[in-house]
Amino acid sequence: MRTRTFPVALLLASLSTVSAAETVWLDTLDLSQMTQGWGTPQTNRSIRELPLSIGGRKFERGVGTHATSLARIGLGGGSERFRAFVGVDDNANGAATITFKVMADGRTLWQSGVMKSGDPAREVDVDLRGVNTLLLQVGDAGDGISFDHANWAEARFIVSGARPQIAAVPQEAAVILTPKPGPAPRINGPTVYGCRPGNPFLYRIPTQGERPMTFSVSGMPRGLTLDSAAGIITGAIAERGEYRLTLRAKNRHGRSSRPFKIVCGDTLSLTPSMGWNHWYAHYDRITDAMMREAADILVSSGMADVGYQYVSIDDCWMNAAKQRDPMRVGPLRDERGNILPNKHFPDMKALTDYIHAKGLKAGIYTSPGPRTCAGFAGSHQHEAQDAKQFADWGFDLLKYDWCSYGEIAKGDKSPDALKKPYRLMGDLLKKQNRDILFNLCQYGMGNVWEWGAEVGGQSWRTSGDLGFELNNLFNVALKNAEHRAWSRPGSWNDPDYIQVGYIGNARVGGLPAPCPLTPTEQYSFMSLWCLMASPLFYSGDLTQLDEFTLNVLCNPEVIEVNQDPLGQCARVIELDESTFIMVKDLADGAKAVGLCNRGEMESTVTARWADLGIKGRPRVRDLWRQKDLGRFASEFKTSVARHGVVLVRVK
Ligand code: GAL
Repeated sequence: MRTRTFPVALLLASLSTVSAAETVWLDTLDLSQMTQGWGTPQTNRSIRELPLSIGGRKFERGVGTHATSLARIGLGGGSERFRAFVGVDDNANGAATITFKVMADGRTLWQSGVMKSGDPAREVDVDLRGVNTLLLQVGDAGDGISFDHANWAEARFIVSGARPQIAAVPQEAAVILTPKPGPAPRINGPTVYGCRPGNPFLYRIPTQGERPMTFSVSGMPRGLTLDSAAGIITGAIAERGEYRLTLRAKNRHGRSSRPFKIVCGDTLSLTPSMGWNHWYAHYDRITDAMMREAADILVSSGMADVGYQYVSIDDCWMNAAKQRDPMRVGPLRDERGNILPNKHFPDMKALTDYIHAKGLKAGIYTSPGPRTCAGFAGSHQHEAQDAKQFADWGFDLLKYDWCSYGEIAKGDKSPDALKKPYRLMGDLLKKQNRDILFNLCQYGMGNVWEWGAEVGGQSWRTSGDLGFELNNLFNVALKNAEHRAWSRPGSWNDPDYIQVGYIGNARVGGLPAPCPLTPTEQYSFMSLWCLMASPLFYSGDLTQLDEFTLNVLCNPEVIEVNQDPLGQCARVIELDESTFIMVKDLADGAKAVGLCNRGEMESTVTARWADLGIKGRPRVRDLWRQKDLGRFASEFKTSVARHGVVLVRVK
């Protein structure tokens, strides 16, 4: 009996839904909440506003978008099927590689694999019964988003209940995870520090806690003195060698001490450099007054108390032949060929004196080409003169940006041609009577990580400007971490600056605005950069720091992962398409572990001790919350938010 009636009932049920079903086209939905890497989503045409066309086949309707793209569609269980033809639009201007993916409530329903320009359209036809949230995703296939024009052609839902709707990314509260630092002293910063013999030494002991505070140092090398109220060490060490010091601080609430090893020799930046760079906050609006204000805020905000040290000017401090601001137009050099700062920088020496007086260091920028990226005077054919000038002015770091050097190299991309300008400047910097860090900026050409140290660099950008890839944070990090073999004391892979809080606006008169990242993504940014031992340069607007942003930037336990003296970049263990683990060995035998979720839905991530090379029942500490979680046998499992990283220390 039962076996007869049951199929009939099922048939009736499905007939009733089929008869009620209607077709809802993706192109009729409100696309304003759809996100994409370039442009805005187009209805019934490609991202270039041309008829939709895939592999020579034209489509009347659909949505034209650009990697990386996401439409988060609320279905409320009301849809039965999704159908579409997908592929690269035929009018993309170059060779594209993209991936399409359809996810339902965290499960992958369909994926295209890598699709290239000219490939025939692939058909999607998936069952959506019972699905609440559908994600239509376009990825860049791991090679950047250039030319990635992607079409969801004839995309439609077969709907029998609630109508599909494109939803915004779920709003998140900006939760402050870290307890406020107490009034008692806490000395932070690296435990090992490199300098060269005979050069000026400057170190402000990064220390949290209420002022006034009294500092003392034991084991101080000959030639150095301490300002015991400010906690600033100055002088010069004549003799090469390793010096073991103990730094101490006390105030009315308590005391703190920290071992500190100075290695006086050839290697600088024994831990990743930390500081602030003006670029993503102020572009070509930067002035001397803003640089001084940045130095003030680095101290008053407490950032210097957790280790931020360099105050760096990027492009636009020189003159240009043509520029929107007449104050930045003028002769590029004087009659003796000396580089001339523009009228916004009346006295470079006075500026670095101001920064140094606070115990901080100063950074500057130029290009090996005739012009910088923003069209200002570069150093081509004035390299020796400029290196000496930067040292005489008192700068402690140089960012050397390839820019117009392509004209000089004339398209020669051989290793020797790529190394040449950097080796020239690297050698010159070593000869100055100051320790000047050398940051190579040429976007990773010629596997710069393999030879950046050899030409005198302490760090090198491994990719293009992150400014345009913020929606791709995890991919940038995964790509950067591939170069982990070259991460070591004095030699750092640089995936670009930290952009949280208020970040810039490159338009005329533009002012920094809240960055597009969710609070979780901002924590992830910092967690990933610390796991990768990347230089930590904040490049947001310091005048608009709020409590949340400071919390992201200033957790000393998180920064300690970055500054660990082993200098290791975390190893990546892929778990599935959205989740992965990053694990970094620390000098004291502990491991920093990041449980990462780059997917669009919250997910449970498990770090198995066997995969991580951990034995026994170690203690696990949540570094953002500064909270011990207990001992865990065999694994640590936690829920990780969309685009989140849970950062723990395991020992
Ligand atoms: C870019 C560089 C940026 C910034 C800019 C200045 O090439 O990657 O970090 O320095 O030039 O014009």
